[in-house]
Amino acid sequence: MRRKTAILISGRGSNMAALIEAAGDPDYPARIALVISNRPDAAGLDIARGHGVKTRIIDHRRFETRETFEAEVDKALETAGVDLVCLAGFMRLLTESFVKRWHDRLINIHPSLLPAFRGVDTHARALAAGVKISGCTVHFVRPEMDSGPIIAQAAVAVLPGDTEDALAARVLAAEHRIYPLALRLVASGRARAVGEQVVIDGCVGEGAPLFSPPVE
Ligand code: GRF
Repeated sequence: MRRKTAILISGRGSNMAALIEAAGDPDYPARIALVISNRPDAAGLDIARGHGVKTRIIDHRRFETRETFEAEVDKALETAGVDLVCLAGFMRLLTESFVKRWHDRLINIHPSLLPAFRGVDTHARALAAGVKISGCTVHFVRPEMDSGPIIAQAAVAVLPGDTEDALAARVLAAEHRIYPLALRLVASGRARAVGEQVVIDGCVGEGAPLFSPPVE
């Protein structure tokens, strides 16, 4: 049974598009049933509609509190029979009670190798810190911002002369690969949180090191 999944966005929606495209495969274990945007002008809304995915705008500015906004989001998720929720560039902090209600069914993508560089402006901060490798992380959401058991990560090299935009583009390409992978693992039941860690059934590997700069 394909698990009914919603994606919450606030803007461009390129990660959302990657998830929708992956879920276009009938063998993919999740089906994207709904896209919700808290911003009426989010470019991702048109992309979702173009794929025939149902969309809802729930403008947070119409609500006096975070709780009333989230109650409306919850109602929309429930009405659509949603079982899993993916945050994809969703720029609202969620309350502890919302996060707990969706415990282990709410996942997020963040453009850094967590736990490094939580919060915003990750690429500028990675460049300022002089790290040689950055990347992205998909994780189960916990109440503390950008924290929770890690499902998948991808590393990318920080190259000499990188600008924030150049690094962001390189990381984004990796995001588009790991988010569909992570959702596949969660929706199929292969990945599950055990304490602070995620256990993935049948995952064995050599653990090849990734060097940056490449070792001569
Ligand atoms: C991505 O970099 C994501 O990791 C971060 O916000 C950005 C959203 O981009 N949380 P998009 O809307 O998916 O194109």
